[in-house]
Amino acid sequence: MSKKNLNGRSVISIADLTKDEIEHVLKRAAEFKKKPPKELLRGQILASCFFEPSTRTRLSFESAMLRLGGQVIGFSDAASTSIRKGESLYDSMKVTGSLADLIVIRHPMEGAARLASLATTKPVINAGDGANQHPTQTLLDLFTIKECQGKLEGLKVAIVGDLKYGRTVHSLASAAALFDMRLYFISPEELTLPETILKQLRKLRGKFSFHHNVEEVIDKIDILYMTRIQKERFDDATYEKVKESYILKEAQLKKAKSHLRVLHPLPRVNEIEVAIDSTPHAYYFEQAENGLFVHEALLALILGKIN
Ligand code: CP
Repeated sequence: MSKKNLNGRSVISIADLTKDEIEHVLKRAAEFKKKPPKELLRGQILASCFFEPSTRTRLSFESAMLRLGGQVIGFSDAASTSIRKGESLYDSMKVTGSLADLIVIRHPMEGAARLASLATTKPVINAGDGANQHPTQTLLDLFTIKECQGKLEGLKVAIVGDLKYGRTVHSLASAAALFDMRLYFISPEELTLPETILKQLRKLRGKFSFHHNVEEVIDKIDILYMTRIQKERFDDATYEKVKESYILKEAQLKKAKSHLRVLHPLPRVNEIEVAIDSTPHAYYFEQAENGLFVHEALLALILGKIN
């Protein structure tokens, strides 16, 4: 089997993909963006299982499946499933797998996507499990970085906000090290990167440093990756203390390189001042749109319809 053959594979963590495989997904996504494929997934069924709120990831996967001629079953509210009656996630995913060709799952519990992949023989894509991983967000982040900077290797990237609970950050940090990116982590003390991710970065010989404000690095970086302080992941007292830690204002971009682009996995609450949307630095809405092409490529590769 080719190292790049994703047919039948699950994607639970970004570490499930090699650098070659990541580049291959990005290449296929770029082809799809340039020339939209048709009817590639006719007869295939995606189970879209969202136990936690989502706008972009769910609609983007579902749109990708429908645009490629496939069909979608699923739910966007755990309360409408038999888990509400006491069924285990394992049983629920085992049955769902027998009704579909591929499962996309988002769940508030860390490890839920891994558990789902053990319950079924069908491929499972992790669309976010608690504060753990969000590998498909990382694929679209890398696609977008390559699109707006023309390359991935050797870029200088600042990641700002909730680094402790931010699953998009955890997946992106590990992948960035594969591409020799220099990382600047900017967060309040309470929300610094977990030791498990730091260990992975050290293992990959990643280059990184810690900072408390954007001004320390703004004139050096190519990408400013903002994240939301996630109210749903910690207690009210801690949230109140850190909620307004990082709100990016237009004036802070004065010393930025002209090619600096601001990214954000979205949803945004107040981390990026709306005035920034109309500056050449804003690239987060293009980033969200790119999810469609990356998800199309991933579905087609995993369902074995392209190589
Ligand atoms: N970026 C992201 O995961 O957005 P949603 O929560 O809207 O899916």
